[in-house]
Amino acid sequence: MPPLAGGGVPLLGHGWRLARDPLAFMSRLSAHGDVVRIKLGPKTVYAVTHPDLTGALALSPDYIIAGPLWESLEGLLGKEGVATANGPLHRRQRRTIQPAFRLDAIPAYGPIMEEETHALTERWKSGETIDCTSESFRIAVRVAARCLLRGQYMDERAERLCIALASVFQGMYHRMVVPLGPLYKLPLPANREFNRALADLHLLVDEIIAERRSSGQRPDDLLTALLEAKDDNGDPIGEQEIHDQVVAILTPGSETIASTIMSLLLILADHPEQADKVCAEVDAVTCGKPVAFEHVRRLTHTNNVVMEAMRLLPAVWILTRRAVADTELGGYRIPAGADIVYSPYAIQRDPRSYERHLEFDPDRWHPQRSKDIPKYAMRPFGVGNRKCPSDHFSMALLTLVTAVLAGSFRFEQVPGSDDATRVGITLHPKQLLLKPLPR
Ligand code: HEM
Repeated sequence: MPPLAGGGVPLLGHGWRLARDPLAFMSRLSAHGDVVRIKLGPKTVYAVTHPDLTGALALSPDYIIAGPLWESLEGLLGKEGVATANGPLHRRQRRTIQPAFRLDAIPAYGPIMEEETHALTERWKSGETIDCTSESFRIAVRVAARCLLRGQYMDERAERLCIALASVFQGMYHRMVVPLGPLYKLPLPANREFNRALADLHLLVDEIIAERRSSGQRPDDLLTALLEAKDDNGDPIGEQEIHDQVVAILTPGSETIASTIMSLLLILADHPEQADKVCAEVDAVTCGKPVAFEHVRRLTHTNNVVMEAMRLLPAVWILTRRAVADTELGGYRIPAGADIVYSPYAIQRDPRSYERHLEFDPDRWHPQRSKDIPKYAMRPFGVGNRKCPSDHFSMALLTLVTAVLAGSFRFEQVPGSDDATRVGITLHPKQLLLKPLPR
């Protein structure tokens, strides 16, 4: 049996430690072993702390996506989307969405990514405070919606999606960490706002689908792929599945990108020397022209800055699986039905894998140096059949955003800004308020 994590208390087990400071709790587990038992009340959960074993877990068919976290997501967002499906349904859904995210599909999104990124620097006025949470969310939702669900009408819809998704994420996290079911049914203002936002999200998705259908157009995009998808019998997929798929792609797509942009903005503000290096690379690559999508693949240092930000502040900080058979990990027996967790945050900050593990050092991603980093010690997009479909899309967008922002402004935090790490469904600075200043 794997060793038990330290610090448990009768009845609650480790739950209170996990709730109080989840990042510290997950980071300390490796001191107890590569696989560790955690008690959450009466329940035993297995935590994996070694990068090799996180790879083995993600690649093994003995583990699926299930468990309390996924059940609560399904209840709110829908049961038939790719992020929560398993087995043949999941394989079929991945085949439908994958072409929209393939490396050779990304350049077609370049003009929208450029337009949205430059629109940010046009909106931001030197010396005026910017609220990084809403601004990051805004660009993330707009880019995902405009690239993947194309159409002029998306401009106004993208705004509404922004507002709905921001409230939905906030409310979902509360419901997960404080699962007091009946409390969320009371007619309190916060519950009403959450229900309104959730209803608007579903309504928006229905409107987007209905409008595309009535337009008679079939642009080469993800929405067309979903509308024309067939099930394993060759029949069109159901309305509910189309709806849930759009929700299942938009929701992880916006919160993760928004959180990572917030973390990148914090790094540009707190490490002016890093911002200067990005700016120097941008100047060298663009020769003074506005940064364009075509420059992205030559912005190698900027790409390393994004990687290093995702290492230290990974948007997705915890992942879970459920064993579907009696199996083993790291020499320990894992019983069928067991829930397993691991934390990319803890794995990516582990001193066993990284020299000067807490230092922000983008040059560690130089090919010369990165070859010494263990294989699964940096997988911010996951591994195996559940790997994020959007890794190329996300890296291109994040590199472009970082280059444009660092090339346009210097950033300073203003009084009232709170850069402490907020743990929610994703990780990001709590309430980052920045003042852009001219370069
Ligand atoms: C899955 C990270 C952006 C759509 C995942 C997973 C990770 C991840 C770690 C795998 C979860 C697991 O193993 O259980 C990220 C990060 C992003 C990002 C760090 C950006 C910084 C996006 C975007 C989209 C997206 C932009 C869509 C527009 C999805 C979907 C899944 C997923 C649909 C579920 C895949 C499946 O279960 O087969 N993401 N993601 N992600 N992501 Fe992303």
